[in-house]
Amino acid sequence: MIIASNFKTNHTRASTKHYLQTLDTFVKESGSKQEVLVFPPATALDSFELAENIRVGVQNAYPVEKGSFTGEIGLEQIDEFGLKTILIGHSERRHIMNETQELCAKKYDFFKAQGFEIVYCIGEPKEVREEGIDAVIAYNETQLEGIDLLYDKLIVAYEPVWAIGTGLTASPEQIEETLVKLREKIKAPLLYGGSVKPANTKEILQLPNCDGVLIGTASWDVENFCEMIEIADSM
Ligand code: PGA
Repeated sequence: MIIASNFKTNHTRASTKHYLQTLDTFVKESGSKQEVLVFPPATALDSFELAENIRVGVQNAYPVEKGSFTGEIGLEQIDEFGLKTILIGHSERRHIMNETQELCAKKYDFFKAQGFEIVYCIGEPKEVREEGIDAVIAYNETQLEGIDLLYDKLIVAYEPVWAIGTGLTASPEQIEETLVKLREKIKAPLLYGGSVKPANTKEILQLPNCDGVLIGTASWDVENFCEMIEIADSM
């Protein structure tokens, strides 16, 4: 399974280092076989020496090698640390930073051409979910426009916007019915994200079409994150 942590705008350079050391020790001592991904803030990026199954990635980057894009980082800044994993299309970038589907697709193409592992996020807002599953799928499909679904380093994270950071998790039935429909088009691993925590990790990971989870809030505490990896190990 893929167990991923998105720090968002949390943790410092110092606390990220401590977090990754604790996580690394846990993964090595437990012999966990999960694929563990961690997305720290850009200020905390570095070349970390970690267990083979832990990968650090960037939460965002501009689709350029370098240039004049104030406040953004490009390939040159990521390459310095040898990182090869990126999160693209997170709902906070789409809805708070107003990132368009066109820009998401541009980022996708750029980092695909560079051979990055891409965790590509999609998910509908509350009013769409209330319209039912057909509307949900139609909305999520608009977020797949321009995205090469056959890319072999693609991971898709289904994260309903209304479940992110709200404590409201989609029900196992809602998650599975959505993943089943997405599975018709997407052969890549499918993650669920949206208020995943130790208490609901098992029931989500048990869903037949769920290949892992992308966790925000509950993963910022490293003990909690390790607990969720342990739950995956026990299954
Ligand atoms: P959350 O965030 O776990 O805090 O809901 C998930 C995400 O945004 O990836």
